[in-house]
Amino acid sequence: MTEREPGSLTWPRGLSGMCYGGDYNPEQWSLQVWAEDMELMRRAKVNLVTVGVFSWSRLEPSPGVYRFDWLDQVMDLLHQTGIRVNLATPTASPPPWFSFAHPDALPVTRDGVRLWHGSRDTYCVCAPAYREACRRIAQALADRYADHPALAMWHVHNEYGTWCYCDHVAVRFRQWLRARYGDLDALNEAWNGAFWSQWYSDWDQILPPRATQYLPNPTQMLDFRRFMSAELLAAYQEQRDILRAANPDIPITTNYMFYPGLDNWAWSQQVDLTALDHYPSATDQRAEEQTAFGADLARSWARGHPWLLMEQATSLIYTGDVIATKEPGRMLRHSLSHIARGSEGALFFQWRAPVAGAEVYHSAMVPHAGPATRVFKEVVALGEVLERLEEVRGSVPRTDVAILWDAEAWWAVESAGFPSTRVRYLDAVSAAHRVLWRAGYVVDFARPDADLSRYRLVLVPSLYVISDEAAANLTNYVANGGHLVVSFFSGIADPRHHVRLGGYPGAFRTVLGIRVEEFHPLLDDAQVTLSTGDTGRIWSEHLHLEGAEALAHYVGGCLDGQPALTRHRWGKGVGWYVSTRLDDDAYGRLVFRAAEEAGVTPPPTGASGECEVVRRWGAHSSWLFVINHSDRPHHIPAEGVDLVTGAEVRGQVSVPAGGVAVIREAR
Ligand code: GLA
Repeated sequence: MTEREPGSLTWPRGLSGMCYGGDYNPEQWSLQVWAEDMELMRRAKVNLVTVGVFSWSRLEPSPGVYRFDWLDQVMDLLHQTGIRVNLATPTASPPPWFSFAHPDALPVTRDGVRLWHGSRDTYCVCAPAYREACRRIAQALADRYADHPALAMWHVHNEYGTWCYCDHVAVRFRQWLRARYGDLDALNEAWNGAFWSQWYSDWDQILPPRATQYLPNPTQMLDFRRFMSAELLAAYQEQRDILRAANPDIPITTNYMFYPGLDNWAWSQQVDLTALDHYPSATDQRAEEQTAFGADLARSWARGHPWLLMEQATSLIYTGDVIATKEPGRMLRHSLSHIARGSEGALFFQWRAPVAGAEVYHSAMVPHAGPATRVFKEVVALGEVLERLEEVRGSVPRTDVAILWDAEAWWAVESAGFPSTRVRYLDAVSAAHRVLWRAGYVVDFARPDADLSRYRLVLVPSLYVISDEAAANLTNYVANGGHLVVSFFSGIADPRHHVRLGGYPGAFRTVLGIRVEEFHPLLDDAQVTLSTGDTGRIWSEHLHLEGAEALAHYVGGCLDGQPALTRHRWGKGVGWYVSTRLDDDAYGRLVFRAAEEAGVTPPPTGASGECEVVRRWGAHSSWLFVINHSDRPHHIPAEGVDLVTGAEVRGQVSVPAGGVAVIREAR
């Protein structure tokens, strides 16, 4: 199958405005309810629904026996109602008959426990029977619906990310390793098989990293994660190619969960449209931080092409043990926060709250209490707002600040047996994003080997693993005038997970002008004090200057007088280094100082975490999104027309507590 140029076919067929809708599971309901659904969807101005995500057992009730009558009716009904369909392949949830026919396709945990049927995602992606069944059902759907007039997009699978450690996986893992290393000696060297007598003498001795007696081999673990991401991607590609062959004019995507399992840079080369599911996990301001974080990531993965918020919740924030309710207005604000950052619409899980089942209390667009509810009123109101935003499509936010994002660094930095389990990749990256978000900056994420020349400032949080090429890329970035703010536990290892010897942070020593002799990780109740009066937690280091200047020193303890924060002129740029986990205020001060020196474009006046102000730029116009998350009005300089109210804006827009505005700017 020839590759389609990413971004060449990026939009659901037949839709011009913002996408609005959600997962629609009508197979759980009677025909009467379907009729009411159509009426309510019209009222809410829904224009796109995802159908069939978990419908395998209703589509193929027994092996090779297909029941398309109900789906035919659903597709036709939606078409008559003027609603487009994002048709899913149901492969995330094989039917019970499949698991009974192929028990070897049920997933096995690290401990060797084979899971039973009874939930969803009970499959092993490497089981030949599973892959074959996926191809068959994808082909059957393609044969039947590829030319259906309601079909706007294909949605392959759901949230790829299920792992397995069974013998099928072992076979595929070995094949992947052979392709990566060529011969066993190279693998043994990469995995440092000389340590703990792990030298393999036959490929068949190599296993997925199953539960073992003590610490697992970190390179084996890292390779396994690389392999699983690639294998899941191969499974996606198989289905994609079947669907594409049936009708090359239909874009194809899959929905990402914000999850450590995938290398989303690689995946995003293979989807026509980047699609993200996003569910904040805290009820305080972290919900808004997480929303902006997810949206900035999705836009970056899409590399400047449109992206789509494929799922969010109308009225729920699941904190892990409580299903909290989203306050009135929060759904609209979260939707606009995604759209301000490039999403071309807002979709939900799911349209109608079910009467039973595992997610019975997951909020929906039509709640259990029906349409005469606060939630449905807000759903209708959001539909009206999105209709008015059609002209915004195709525009994008611009920024000259980036944070490096790398799945391999995430996987590697959390290896077992490392100096501190408190060093978590997501904590480090979200702290970098948070300080910028709170100050009103929109931030891109970038891969370490990307062309960074359009950014004046690049933040590098805990980028533990880095290749020589990517390290040279960052060094050149600084040599050419860029400002790089590196924080601790970065640049330490090469892609084989081998420490770069001679002093930390290995790959960045030259550009940062420092050498770290020893880590001093901190226990939970410990903190270090700096000469600036700031404090650091989690981590500290015994650091030597090798060309850099010290901006702050450690005070007291065994690091007394040693440099803690440094700055190094290198070529035309500057490398900054942070050797401890500063609190947000102190980290922010350092980052903003670097931003100022780097000449970063300041955020729009009045922008903050309390009141997001984000500009999307088109070829000839711009739109200013103002999203007031606070309980007081905000007054933001603006000139133009507010698309939400239709009002003219002269000089400034006053957005009430909890309110929003989207201003087409007069230029
Ligand atoms: C995911 C899934 C949905 C649903 C929601 C619930 O995003 O794709 O099927 O389970 O989570 O939050």
